[in-house]
This record gives sequence, structure tokens and C-alpha cells, in this order.
Amino acid sequence: GKCVGLIPAAGSGSRMGAACPKQYLPLLGRPVLFHSVAAMARLPWIERVYVVLSPADQDFVQTDWRGLVDKIVPLYVGGESRAETVRNGLAAIGHDLTEMDWVLVHDAARPCLSSNDLNRLLSTLQDDPVGGLLAIPVADTIKRASTDGTVAVTVARDMLWQAQTPQMFRYGVLRRALASGADAGITDEASAVEKLGMAPRLVAAQDNNFKVTYAQDLLLAEQVLRSRGL
Ligand code: CTP
Ligand code: MG
Repeated sequence: GKCVGLIPAAGSGSRMGAACPKQYLPLLGRPVLFHSVAAMARLPWIERVYVVLSPADQDFVQTDWRGLVDKIVPLYVGGESRAETVRNGLAAIGHDLTEMDWVLVHDAARPCLSSNDLNRLLSTLQDDPVGGLLAIPVADTIKRASTDGTVAVTVARDMLWQAQTPQMFRYGVLRRALASGADAGITDEASAVEKLGMAPRLVAAQDNNFKVTYAQDLLLAEQVLRSRGL
């Protein structure tokens, strides 16, 4: 099937606490969102990149999209939660897709996604009936807390992974997974797919692909992109 990107970009960036949503903060002279979109749009096997924006978004049209305009389509249907944003985006692009086509959902706030990782995601999943996601093994020791702030238990970390994006799923699977509208506890697409009883495949990311959440993350993102010659 064909592959399209879907970028939820309707968040407000409350943890960043900046004057504008974090996806529009400057990074090497372009908004963070530009880099996240470009990371997908530069690959020839991704036919189109849909960017799901808040209906109130004023910044997308102010952005210089030169070099990407042929592939990107803004959709002003963002919702209150990430799951709602993705669900609305999927509804808006359905006329263009079959059940078995691939949708790669990628955070607007992950500008450092590498072509290597994206290509490996595709090559690992292309024959899979469901899909999967980029992720990295947990590096730190993980504690589960008691309500009083003491350690209840140390969790064996050897089978724990940190989920990233893109999360790549068959259009039909993803549409069904998000259909219920019960978004509580759905923080990524994979968790919705898991609730259907399906098992998304974990694909180990090899390059830095962290999410820009706090101000210091922007400095690191700049270093990472510079080191790749971007
Ligand atoms: N997102 C979205 N619609 C929402 C909430 C989030 O499209 N209603 C998007 C964000 O724009 C971001 C991605 O989902 O690209 C990951 O979310 P997160 O990092 O939590 O971004 P924000 O919700 O904007 O940040 P915060 O939680 O700090 O407010
Ligand atoms: Mg959020």
C-alpha cells in the first residue's frame, strides 16, 4: 500500500511555556514543525504529509514552506487531545486511502527524526498486517511510586521501551483503534491499537529522536541537526 505522513500539530506546548506553541519556535532559522515535516517529506516513498492544525492556527500560513509545498497538506481539524487530533485527521484523509495503506503518525515536536530510522521502520514493517513504532530500550532504572512518595517497587527494565514516533499503522487498523472516542489513557496510537488486541511491533531507533518538551530540548535539537549537516 501507499504511505502518507500525518503530523498532529494542534498542541499548545504548555510545558514549554513559550509565547507560541512549541512547534512554531525557531530551530536553525525554521520552525520546529518545518523540520519534523521535512524529515518525512524528504523520503520519496512518503507520498504526502498531512499536518493537522488547530482551527485557530495563525502560524502555519506565516511559515516559509519552500521546498516542501508539493507534498504537504494542512488540515484545520485539530482537537482537544492528541487522539482527537489524529482521529479528525484520519477522517479528513480517508477518501484518499484504502484499508491497507500506511499512515505514519509523527509528532510535530520531534524534529530530529533521521532518514535512517524512518527507512528502517518501513523495511521492518512493510509486510506486517498491523504496524508498529520507533522506540528505544529504557536506559534508567525505573521505580513505581507509592502514593506517599516512597518507592513501592523497582521495575525490571529489560523488557521496557520508550515509545517514540513515527507510529506506522494500516489505515483501517488505526481508524478502528481510534473510533471509540474513549481517549483517556491513549497517549499514543499504539496504545489504541493494543486495545483492539493487536500487538504493534517495536522497531529500535538508532539516532536521536527525542521530543522537544522543555526549553533545554531546543538547544539539544539544534546540536543534533547541526551534527547531521542540516
Ligand atoms: N497534539 C495535537 N493536539 C492536541 C495535543 C497535542 O496535535 N490536542 C500534538 C502536539 O502538537 C505534539 C504531539 O501531539 O506534536 C505531542 O504532544 P505534546 O508533546 O504533549 O505537545 P503539547 O500537548 O503541545 O505540549 P504540552 O503537553 O506540554 O502542552
Ligand atoms: Mg500534551
